[in-house]
Amino acid sequence: MSPQPQQAVGAPLSRVDGRLKVTGRAAYAADHGTEQGIEHGIEHGIEHGIDGITHAVVVTSSVGRGRITAIDTSAAEAQSGVLKVLDHRNAPRLPYRPNPGSLNLPGERLHVFQDDQVRFHGQPVAVVVATTLEAAQHAAGLVRVDYAAEPPATDLTGAPANEPATAYTRGDAEAAFNAAPVRMEMTYLLSRTHHNAMEPHATIARWTGARVTVWEKTQWVQSTRDELAAVFGIPATDVRVISPFVGGAFGNAARCWPHTVIAALAAREAGRPVKLVLTRKQLYSGVGFRPAYEYKLRLGSDRDGRLAAMLHDLRAETSRYERFSERGVLSPGQMLYTTPNVSQAYRTVPLDVNTPTPMRGPGYSTAAFPIESAIDELAHELGIDPVELRLRNEPDSDQASGMPFSTRRLRECLEVGAREFGWSRRNPKPGQTRDGEWLIGTGMATAVYDTLRAPAQARVRLHADGTAQVESATSDMGPGTYTSMTQIAADALGLAVRAVTFRLGDTILPPAPVHGGSLTMASVGSTVQDGCDKLRRQAIRLAVEDTESPLHGAAPDDVVVRDGRLQLKDDAARGETYRQLLGRNNRAHLEADGAYTPTRPQASMYAYGAVFAEVAVDQRLGMVRVRRMLAVYDAGRVISPKLADSQAIGGMVGGISAALLEHTLTDPRDGRITNANLADYLVPVNADVPQLKAIYLDGRDEIADPIGVKGLGEVVLVGVAPSIANAVFHATGRRIRRLPITIDNLL
Ligand code: MOS
Repeated sequence: MSPQPQQAVGAPLSRVDGRLKVTGRAAYAADHGTEQGIEHGIEHGIEHGIDGITHAVVVTSSVGRGRITAIDTSAAEAQSGVLKVLDHRNAPRLPYRPNPGSLNLPGERLHVFQDDQVRFHGQPVAVVVATTLEAAQHAAGLVRVDYAAEPPATDLTGAPANEPATAYTRGDAEAAFNAAPVRMEMTYLLSRTHHNAMEPHATIARWTGARVTVWEKTQWVQSTRDELAAVFGIPATDVRVISPFVGGAFGNAARCWPHTVIAALAAREAGRPVKLVLTRKQLYSGVGFRPAYEYKLRLGSDRDGRLAAMLHDLRAETSRYERFSERGVLSPGQMLYTTPNVSQAYRTVPLDVNTPTPMRGPGYSTAAFPIESAIDELAHELGIDPVELRLRNEPDSDQASGMPFSTRRLRECLEVGAREFGWSRRNPKPGQTRDGEWLIGTGMATAVYDTLRAPAQARVRLHADGTAQVESATSDMGPGTYTSMTQIAADALGLAVRAVTFRLGDTILPPAPVHGGSLTMASVGSTVQDGCDKLRRQAIRLAVEDTESPLHGAAPDDVVVRDGRLQLKDDAARGETYRQLLGRNNRAHLEADGAYTPTRPQASMYAYGAVFAEVAVDQRLGMVRVRRMLAVYDAGRVISPKLADSQAIGGMVGGISAALLEHTLTDPRDGRITNANLADYLVPVNADVPQLKAIYLDGRDEIADPIGVKGLGEVVLVGVAPSIANAVFHATGRRIRRLPITIDNLL
């Protein structure tokens, strides 16, 4: 822990990049090479000149499975402005070397334009490059593709699964279930959903000889760099990936997807820089999605609601070419409640779809729906309050790992949440509370997400003018990395927030892990803290050893830095500024490198939450309105309260969406996604979002990481959907075991 006064950390700062964003001066992937991108580039010293940019438009398959029998590109090629049309017949064979480190999965990633096979509806089959976007769009419409089509399998239900299943067992779950006085058996269905970030996926690729620079929407510049290097068989040092702003991602910009390879390939073959923006429709098959799940849960307990056994039987869709699975879907069943006997079987089901990918709260939010619904069912069955039932099953240690918890304050989350929400005023009997024509219900659920950490590095430079620049190749898809890292750095360096600039999103910066899994604050935050602590100590050493410094001879530990001035802890009058110190010593800057390497976990580390919801249901119309929601989180130290609140509210909105609206619909005849646009794919609008309130338990997790945080971006989505489903049950007495809960489920 830094001995520095903490002024920026914990203060409700607005985003340091907020003005850039709201004035349209933040350059997102497709903005580079435009005037806006150039202005941004000049201001931020990043590459901006992209001369002679051309435009690529992807042609996608109109069948869900089969083979391309013929392609006629002559009409497209005859259009003025068209520079190149590529498909599997004329595209060069690409090395596609193995790249196990970049979130690639068992199986083999989709190779673009390398064969005539169609693996899913919407698969890229050709790309047109033209001097203008309009010419490329028009020409793409003129490419004629003939197929030998076969009926695709796109429905999880009934489709055969991959073997073997991932399994986990503890105790004898079958026997304990069979012997349990109370037994319940339920099947839950969760729909396929898409991330639908505001910014579409976009790539600009420019080759200079054998080297390529890519401006990209990504949560992990190194992942795109390494994948492009592997696909093209070139050294990673010949690939630079730049991504200063990301307009939302929620997990689907963590991997390098086929369109990025297409943009780089098209640029190389056309001999010109290429910009490729996926259309809104193409985002449904061009990048991943949250897979559909079928989740069977058996639960046995005693009459006091103490769990004896839980048996989880999961099936989740994946593509035929890669096997996507998410470990997080198994964790809650292993550690959330005291359960002596657990068995889990997790099977992936290959379908004619593109490969799924993590989506906010990956795995955990999926598992929370069946588990938290089932606990609610059990509470109702036994006539025990759902909060009380959870408290009765609160474990002392992690039964899966055998380790103690670093911090686990779920009990407090439940108690504070119940009090603040007014839970005790609830009539436990469902279907009893009315407001005019509306049936009113309240429901709750718990939330959990693991505290992940990964190695990260940073570089810190303090300039002679008393400003500092901190750099790490992380990303900011929305949670406010720019701001929170600036807060950490400002306090550790003893500078005002405005004197610190944080730079991210470029492979030339010190490496950072994927900006996902809620690990950025813990990992990059700890490395920023480390680098800035080192730099401050370096400056203090310089001062105390400098005979001309007022601090000469002072003990370094007695010196703090406030607002750019080094001074004695106990005698603020004795000191000098960074400017004076560096100026007198003829130093243009001081520099330090920060590093963070996670320790081997000695404890079980998770963030927790308790979510409470009130809904109103119109019985005649089957309509559900969320009226209010309150959640209490145990997420360790909160670095940036305003941004944390924004994360929590965003998570709740995402959960309302999952509970009541979102659903990717696929036509079983040809695998076409029928609602591949934001008019038909429903997400909440303001009218769907009521009063939302988030409360954070004060405190820090000293074991998790040096800055005491547990991660926040994911846990805030977990538990929201089941709290709403449980409230719908309380309102109506109807238990809906599928997501989303739509009008037809309640009529
Ligand atoms: Mo989050 S699904 O790891 O971006």
